[in-house]
Amino acid sequence: MTELKQEKQNENIKIGNLKLKSKVIVAPMAGVTDTVFRQLIRLFSKECLLVTEMISSEALKYNKTNHITDMAECEHPISFQLCGHKPDLMAEAARQLEEKADIIDINMGCPVSKIVKNTDGSKLMTEPKLASELIKKIKAAVNVPVTVKCRIGWDMNSKNHVEFAKIVQDSGADALVVHGRTRSQLYSGKADWHAIGEVKQAVDIPVFGNGDITSPEFALECLKISGCDGVAIGRGLLGDPGLLHRVEHAINTGEILPPPTIHERLELAILHGEKEVEYRSEIHGVKYCRKFFAWYIKGIRDAAKYRYDLVRMDSFKEVKDYLTAIKERELSD
Ligand SMILES: Cc1cc2nc3c(=O)[nH]c(=O)nc-3n(C[C@H](O)[C@H](O)[C@H](O)COP(=O)(O)O)c2cc1C
Repeated sequence: MTELKQEKQNENIKIGNLKLKSKVIVAPMAGVTDTVFRQLIRLFSKECLLVTEMISSEALKYNKTNHITDMAECEHPISFQLCGHKPDLMAEAARQLEEKADIIDINMGCPVSKIVKNTDGSKLMTEPKLASELIKKIKAAVNVPVTVKCRIGWDMNSKNHVEFAKIVQDSGADALVVHGRTRSQLYSGKADWHAIGEVKQAVDIPVFGNGDITSPEFALECLKISGCDGVAIGRGLLGDPGLLHRVEHAINTGEILPPPTIHERLELAILHGEKEVEYRSEIHGVKYCRKFFAWYIKGIRDAAKYRYDLVRMDSFKEVKDYLTAIKERELSD
């Protein structure tokens, strides 16, 4: 590798006054990226930017956020994502979170009906004036950098990623994460990394490409196509929280590390379950983890039967014994 290339790869990404050593960030996922999951990612990657689940500014006002703002010291650098559309309320929520957060991120990408019907999430891409006012109010309220996460538009006939990105930048945002799909696509089709590249060309603030980055190879391809500063990874982390580190490693060295073995995935499933039970209590932790167990065992032989059994278990000992038995069976074959 040439020295120049190596230097470029080692460059920090500057988001306002925050320097990120890693070019890989977590994409926020409601019901997934809680403090336990984020700490699991931290075991692999010491420097990536972690991101909370979206936090409703309304819920925060009425103190109904149910521990969603919990975090551990090791989670820094961490971005807190806010969801809402009322500028004053969002600014107040940002102020409340500022003490814990290294970044405040604004959700302008969520496609879910109950969110967009309130003009929250991706609906804000159809309301650029309101989106701009939100950013300005939040920027004025806090001293930490403010970022925006958006899509490439509402639908195929109203793609406005480039104009919207310029408005986001002109309103004072310090970085932008772009999921390369429209709202109408939800999660169907393929993320358009070329469209993300159009955003990168149009603005000077750092741009992170997002959508369908499920391997180090895809991360490198997305960076090549889009020319983005970094990437944000969501679903690829389900059942594989170490993916983020493997992507960092590929970006920094060009080397592709192998995915985890079945044995390693099952060990992580047990560790994840243990930590959620510690955090939430046995009954809530086991229930909460059912979807995670399904992700950890995805693709292995008899996964459907294992999933059927696991979702019916309430005791963590039962879950742990069951996962251990699968591990032993896999090892003996
Ligand atoms: C279960 C789930 C929950 C999500 N929750 C949020 C959220 O709270 N805020 C947000 O901006 N995006 C949310 N997203 C979208 C992701 O951050 C990401 O943009 C999307 O999944 C595409 O990236 P990926 O292909 O790497 O998963 C969610 C996605 C999933 C699958």
